Amino acid sequence: MSVLEQMTSQDAIDLENKYGAHNYHPLPVVLSKGEGVYVWDVEGKKYYDFLSAYSAVNQGHCHPKIIGALTEQAQKLTLTSRAFYNDVLGVYEKFATQYFGFDKMLPMNTGAEAVETAIKLCRKWAYEKRGIEEHKAKIVVCENNFHGRTTTIISFSNDEDARKNFGPYTPGFVKIPYDSIEALEEVLKTESDIAGFLVEPIQGEAGVYVPAEGYLKKAKELCEKYGVLFIADEVQTGIARTGKLLAVSHEEVTPDILILGKAISGGVYPVSAVLANDTIMEVIKPGQHGSTFGGNPLAGAVAMAALNVVEDEQLAENAETLGVLFREKMNDYIKTSKIVNLVRGKGLLNAIVINDSEDSSTAWDICVALKENGLLAKPTHGNIIRFAPPLVMTEEQLLECVGIITKTLEAFEA
Ligand SMILES: Cc1ncc(COP(=O)(O)O)c(C=O)c1O
Repeated sequence: MSVLEQMTSQDAIDLENKYGAHNYHPLPVVLSKGEGVYVWDVEGKKYYDFLSAYSAVNQGHCHPKIIGALTEQAQKLTLTSRAFYNDVLGVYEKFATQYFGFDKMLPMNTGAEAVETAIKLCRKWAYEKRGIEEHKAKIVVCENNFHGRTTTIISFSNDEDARKNFGPYTPGFVKIPYDSIEALEEVLKTESDIAGFLVEPIQGEAGVYVPAEGYLKKAKELCEKYGVLFIADEVQTGIARTGKLLAVSHEEVTPDILILGKAISGGVYPVSAVLANDTIMEVIKPGQHGSTFGGNPLAGAVAMAALNVVEDEQLAENAETLGVLFREKMNDYIKTSKIVNLVRGKGLLNAIVINDSEDSSTAWDICVALKENGLLAKPTHGNIIRFAPPLVMTEEQLLECVGIITKTLEAFEA
């Protein structure tokens, strides 16, 4: 028996507290197994996973086809670095570019790295193709964005926890309100040297803010009009989460630069990617950008399997159907609820807003109670609880989850 198997939840929590940096505040549950929509804690209690590792495990935990691809490739070749070619990367790049409809892909590992890659690509394109004077390029971003945790990315965050005492910050970003076409047009009209517009099609971390219908389409049109790159960060919204392969597909928008991560590997391995057409991607030359692990054969094999699962199991369609049902059921509940103000979302990326102040502990307390009742979710920003189960969920399972959620909420009604 391994040390881990003898451990209680409290033992595991104590170890993390003593030996790990306190950069997260997890719900007090210690997981040791996952399968499909379920996870189990070390004491053997079973839960519905309603977070999916922030939308990374869209294909469900330990999907046999993805784990099969992982173990098969792991026994052949895992890492070569890009100093040499490997026999998977080209196949994966062809597969992924055809899958998403772009000329080229630049493979990385984490979401934040892919965002950094997109920023560098946009700046370089601005200097070499748009003729913006070096060091002058600016990228427009949105208030309440979340694009990751690197020094450059937190430079344009307005989350004080994410920023404070991590300066000096990287310049070259202009912040505008989210979901405001007027603000975008104004900045494009008045500011010089704008190279790109970096946007989340739905703001996930901020609390699942869905912009007005037509926002993305109009934003893309404005970017075209002003010769600015439209950069979609689909790290959280992509790969079927919102009911289509990409959230931008709801408005038939094709980004100039597409950023993917999380579920591109089904949460099995850190894989991220930036996709663009040749005129943009060709500005990157050997030695100018890279990563030791980016494009490794294990990542390629895992990502191809994960993307095949999305198509074979029609996960986008399932997310769309179950998402409509979920919001319908939650809206029924909200009609007579005092504790929940609203439900919003698209596909299976949803959130409820708790009727309490942002600094109250009610959303946290509800998540702890949900855990007791067998469902795992986490507050995002104070009084908002995000609900994002794996997309392999059945209707029967979803209805059972709605039952758990409403029963839990009832206990909090005044
Ligand atoms: C929209 C978006 N971009 C980027 C990231 C960063 O991804 P990672 O945590 O893999 O660096 C996230 C993570 O939640 C995200 O939601």
